[in-house]
Amino acid sequence: MRKEVILVTGAAGEVGQALIESLAAAGYGNILALDIKAVPAEIRALCHEEIVGDIVDDKLLNRLVAEYAIPQVFHMAALLSTRAEYTPETAHRVNVEGTLNLLKLSVDQATWIGQPVKFIFPSSVAAYGLPDLETKRRAGAVKEDDWNKPTTMYGCNKLYGEHLGRYYAYHYRQLAAEQRQNSIDFRALRFPGLISAFTLPAGGTSDYGPEMIHHAAQGKAYQSFVREDARIPFMAMPDAVKALLDLQEAPQDALTRTVYNVTSFSLSAAEIADYVRVAFPAAQISFAPDVQRQGIVDTWPEDQDDSAARADWNWQPDYDADRAFAEYLIPNIRQRYVEKA
Ligand code: SER
Repeated sequence: MRKEVILVTGAAGEVGQALIESLAAAGYGNILALDIKAVPAEIRALCHEEIVGDIVDDKLLNRLVAEYAIPQVFHMAALLSTRAEYTPETAHRVNVEGTLNLLKLSVDQATWIGQPVKFIFPSSVAAYGLPDLETKRRAGAVKEDDWNKPTTMYGCNKLYGEHLGRYYAYHYRQLAAEQRQNSIDFRALRFPGLISAFTLPAGGTSDYGPEMIHHAAQGKAYQSFVREDARIPFMAMPDAVKALLDLQEAPQDALTRTVYNVTSFSLSAAEIADYVRVAFPAAQISFAPDVQRQGIVDTWPEDQDDSAARADWNWQPDYDADRAFAEYLIPNIRQRYVEKA
């Protein structure tokens, strides 16, 4: 008998770690954590097993298929947008080929276990691309099907990952003589910039938000790489995990799309700095925009319209900006650096 597990890729990443904590708290003891990096010991302790390996390694994935029954995949592994611009071909390998490999693993699993595999995929605000600032201001909160012309490798990869998921769920081998009985139940979320109190992002372009707060809490000066008026949507990590879990629990017949926007609050970089200065009056924050990274943020919308998620599976964030800062970010980040001091 193969052991039944929930596969979490990118398990050592920001979302992966937070997700594993929540899954474990909800009573799931059968988590299989996969990441190219070792998972921190306290997260590892919540998992059935940890595998350090690469999602583009066919041998490894074949081993997973042979050893485990995997009715559920949370595919969190990715190279984020800034990092991906330095190594676009590597990003494509990880973000696209890696996703393709996991989708293939999932259709194979569906045949083995005789039921559809639920596949949860985090997409991103980076899947959008607005041509200029005036259009961005006019567009306001964008809907899922609008402005899908990303300018970053990461954004292109995420958008294509959404299409691959839809293809594997509804059209896979559509000309084959024998139609597959069970396939993939693919569900994707387009996240805004995520902010965690416990981990720092690596290689993202929305990182100025979390970096500003974490620097201030450590008494370190911070130079923002975007202008004060740069505005994109953000979300506190507990809401990101809540969105992942709510979407995976939603009844299939309630879903009208494969990809859903979710968001919580939109802030300019200056407004984030204001929140930080209220909590840390001595914070030294300055603005020295990096033209290229700023350029990426300028193509991302100011806000995402998440009315489809609200209507179909009752999506609602718990944390608006005030609550995110007052109850989640500031107290936890303060505590984190006191403990580390
Ligand atoms: N936070 C991500 C990034 O900046 C967007 O998904 O790349």
